Amino acid sequence: MSFRYRTHNCGELREKNVGEHVVLNGWVDTRRDLGGIIFIEMRDRYGIMQVVFEPTFNEAAHHQAKDLRNEFVIAIEGTVRKRPAGTENPALPTGLVDVMIDKLIILNEAKTPPFPIKDETDVNEDIRLKYRYLDLRRPRMQHNLMMRHKMYILTREYFDRNNFIEVETPVLMKSTPEGARDFLVPSRVHKGKFFALPQSPQQYKQILMVSGMDRYFQIVKCFRDEDLRADRQLEFTQIDVEMSFVDQENIFEVVEGLMKIFYKEIWNKELSIPLPRLTFDEAMEKYGSDKPDLRCSLEMVNLNHVFLNTSFKVFQDQVKGKGVITGLLAPGCGDYTRNQLDVLTDFVKKLGAGGLIWMRVKENDLEAPIAKFLSDEEKKNIVSTLNAKPGDLLFILSGPRLKALSIMGSLRLEMAKRLNLIQPDADPKLLWVTDFPLFEWDDETKRYYAMHHPFTSPRLEDVEFMDTDPGRVKARAYDLVLNGSEIAGGSIRIHNSELQSKMFKALGISDEEAEHKFGFLTNAFKYGAPPHGGIAFGFDRMAMIFAGESSIREVIAFPKTASAVSLMDDSPSTVPEEALKDLHIKIC
Ligand code: AMO
Repeated sequence: MSFRYRTHNCGELREKNVGEHVVLNGWVDTRRDLGGIIFIEMRDRYGIMQVVFEPTFNEAAHHQAKDLRNEFVIAIEGTVRKRPAGTENPALPTGLVDVMIDKLIILNEAKTPPFPIKDETDVNEDIRLKYRYLDLRRPRMQHNLMMRHKMYILTREYFDRNNFIEVETPVLMKSTPEGARDFLVPSRVHKGKFFALPQSPQQYKQILMVSGMDRYFQIVKCFRDEDLRADRQLEFTQIDVEMSFVDQENIFEVVEGLMKIFYKEIWNKELSIPLPRLTFDEAMEKYGSDKPDLRCSLEMVNLNHVFLNTSFKVFQDQVKGKGVITGLLAPGCGDYTRNQLDVLTDFVKKLGAGGLIWMRVKENDLEAPIAKFLSDEEKKNIVSTLNAKPGDLLFILSGPRLKALSIMGSLRLEMAKRLNLIQPDADPKLLWVTDFPLFEWDDETKRYYAMHHPFTSPRLEDVEFMDTDPGRVKARAYDLVLNGSEIAGGSIRIHNSELQSKMFKALGISDEEAEHKFGFLTNAFKYGAPPHGGIAFGFDRMAMIFAGESSIREVIAFPKTASAVSLMDDSPSTVPEEALKDLHIKIC
């Protein structure tokens, strides 16, 4: 049976349409058979529309409707009517009207879905991912993908308005170390050689600056073979940006402009700019993280000054060395039981702490296992430095600086969770973290690595320490942090070959190795590289937060599971022996 093209979608009809003859297409969302009358809620991307089959209105259609089941695909023709008084559904935008059917066509039947196509579902995520096409029919997922689409459009409009051009860069490129593991693609034509999938278009965008493109952006897929978490995928999307003749402030201005638009258009909130900034050191000292969640007001406090002359051996060692003694106040938690304190001690131990010092604040004293090692003066200073009151609980951790701070940072978030300090409707907190260390020391390999990538410029005033004290050199690097999640990161780049060689040297990369790995970039720099810098947003992470989700899988149409497989198409999968032979590969 033929059917006419739809006149409206399922979310569109209102009282003003009453009396109109309409054609709708969609899926059967629910079916209620009240004996005489059959009600069907039809669903499409735009909404839900109730349609009514009454035997007195159209006997044949009513008879046919008995065969309808959930997820059947149908076309209907009928007349819009105002719903009889008392049967309106204010929860639906279309809820004041329904359609009296006079023609029904079943366009396709459907098997019973393995889970209901409803937002409220407790179905296991693996099942959702296996049947992703059904999962994506759920209104929440449709909303997330539509919001993501809106973010692409806002991004492209914004950068276009600001003179940026979008340039595509290769997906098959040279393998260049950039932090994570590369995905490699064997070359059939060149035996034993491999392309890599880009971890980011970093080198290409810098080369585009040498080419005079001046302002580049790209919404681009990046690939990193790393362990997956709720905010990480093997392939993810960046909004990648690079600009010439700029310093950090110019980049911040461009980024803040885009964030202001997202806030307004997605959240209907005013973002006040310029955004607050914290240096890496401040963020670590106060929040124990380089991506602090400022929705939680708890702050860590440095207690080194309290213990300058302490006789408590554990603290003495830290004060004399380069260690830190950091404290955290847990307001009103002075009545925590031994059992609760043991659980928290285990929590920090799992993160690598030797133990957790806790103290209950009493009227004129501190009650704690280590109290007997502290002088009255020290106890008084702890209380005043942490601004503690009777009934509060104090935590103290000491150890190598970044390690102790970051463990306390995790405890801070754990306490925020326990104390419900971050409400779901809390005002979002967006900030810059700046002045990252240029290098990161790796205890295992006993060498320095670039904290961002080897093209990141040091702060010019720190260049002199690159050979003598690399640990104190700060980078012209910055991250954008939203609600405790790093949503973008970038830097001002090195554009001078002398400084670049110094950087490679500090990283233990020989001239030959540098030539082999990055020669194409350093050679390009010899032909007039402008000063330049940029940033890349993690688009999925940003979309996750804007959608109010807690996993990026909820804003990606076809994500991999946490164990790095795609359950819907069952990849990765084996391939025929022949295909491997063509690629000169043997599985061992
Ligand atoms: P970076 O490595 O910091 O910088 O990446 C930029 C942003 O990408 C997001 N991100 C991820 N999102 C999902 N899954 C992943 N596996 C993943 N890895 C990173 C984060 C991060 O802030 N080329 C540089 C940028 C530059 O210097 O301009 C780069 O890629 O939100």
